[in-house]
Amino acid sequence: MTNTIEPCTFVIFGATGHLSRNKLMPALYHLEAANRIPGGSMILSLGRSDWHDENWKEEIKQTISTKIRGGLDEKVFARFSARLRYFRGNLDDDTIYNDIKGTLESDAEFPGNAAFYMALRPSEFGVVIQKLGESGLVDEGHGWRRVVIEKPFGSDLESAQVLQHKLHRYLKEEQVYRIDHYLGKGTVQNILVFRFANVMMEPLWNRNYIDHVQITHSEVAGIENRAHYYDGAGALRDMIQSHLMQLLTLVAMEPPATMDAEALRDEKVKVLKSIRPISQSAVRAQSFRAQYSSGMINGKKVKSYLEEEDVPSNSTTETYSAHKFYIDNWRWRDIPFFLRTGKRMAESKSAISIRFKHPPQHLFRHTVVDQLKPNWILLGIQPQECVRIEMQVKEPGLTMTPRSISLDASFASNEPNQKLDAYESLLLDIIEGDQSLFLRYDEVEWAWQVVDPILRVWATDRDYIHTYPAGTWGPQETRRLFEREDQFWRHSLNPNDED
Ligand code: BG6
Repeated sequence: MTNTIEPCTFVIFGATGHLSRNKLMPALYHLEAANRIPGGSMILSLGRSDWHDENWKEEIKQTISTKIRGGLDEKVFARFSARLRYFRGNLDDDTIYNDIKGTLESDAEFPGNAAFYMALRPSEFGVVIQKLGESGLVDEGHGWRRVVIEKPFGSDLESAQVLQHKLHRYLKEEQVYRIDHYLGKGTVQNILVFRFANVMMEPLWNRNYIDHVQITHSEVAGIENRAHYYDGAGALRDMIQSHLMQLLTLVAMEPPATMDAEALRDEKVKVLKSIRPISQSAVRAQSFRAQYSSGMINGKKVKSYLEEEDVPSNSTTETYSAHKFYIDNWRWRDIPFFLRTGKRMAESKSAISIRFKHPPQHLFRHTVVDQLKPNWILLGIQPQECVRIEMQVKEPGLTMTPRSISLDASFASNEPNQKLDAYESLLLDIIEGDQSLFLRYDEVEWAWQVVDPILRVWATDRDYIHTYPAGTWGPQETRRLFEREDQFWRHSLNPNDED
């Protein structure tokens, strides 16, 4: 790995698709605006559609202009578009790989360092890796070569192993960037700072003081036009195995020896290895799935999942997935980690809510303070980025009435970098060769080990899928994951909202 920031050619497979248009291109433009793209770098877009350089630049301008913070700046776009080139071709045709090779090796305009980004359907990763390997494009004779793979990496343990086998044939682990864009989000990186840069937190961060941890990602949006991918994946593969499991590792891990990529990833892997395996008979007790039926969102009626375009009418794919995991180590033994995600929910929100135990002595019993609320630490990931500690204080006045307040470390709203998109920092890491926020293969494999038993039971036991009306927080029955009456899903980050 090199830390020298040299110019590179950023090659995007699937450049005309949703991810590239909505995330990669805007992120690269923002890096351009921040002068972080090394001078002389080029962006090579590959797709099947019939574009040429000039109308592709115009297309990108139209596509990204509504997604740029503060509006598109013509001068920045002129610099950015000077880097853009379009190559047309089919992924399974050798011609395109030979063209790229010729360009990287003999066209002086294109740096020999190259990052190949697979903004593709997971089913296409294998063929592209093979072609990149066979064509010699990932050999590092003419500069470094990196391959960026989107999630999901495989669709279960076995397919992940097959994909890894293919990768390993042509690439060294240092060349592989398995991206999980959640790791580029501001609050997610803040978990490490909050935990390890504050001496106050660490002594409390364990089974002695914490009652349970909840990790939530909910979306108002449905599956949009992604049925071809989503119906085969479902919420467990789409969000839990990757993004939410990553959040779990950051909350639960031990302090790493250093902040370098290997030390960090070693600690995350230890957490994944310690997750208690879920036996077949425990799947029903520890996992819950449901699918949205029609409902109301923002006053408008929306379709059920089964009515979405390209979804088979008998599909049992879950759009809501909730789980209880235990981490069998000294720090966390018997403390439940609840993970949940859903499409077409009441609100779009991602947060980590950590609930503390009650004080050991009920000093306020037989007073109005009998029902003391517990402390919480709330880490808002989106839309609101914040770190909050919820505590009890006495209301001013003559009676002993408690009030929940929150100590709020929300970032100031005028913070200039507050709205950075996750992809911006991750694309920069790829260019700079920093793998810390990318997944090592063993992380992916262990995450599949955790969810595979659930997938196996769900694949055969196709009867028990609950439904929930679109626009709600999911079925009531999901409560069965909790262990006590006083545990509940925390939807709000505000202390006095009813959940
Ligand atoms: C993607 C999932 O990885 O993450 C999508 O495939 C999901 O289904 C998305 O909507 C959520 O990411 P974000 O950054 O929009 O919260």
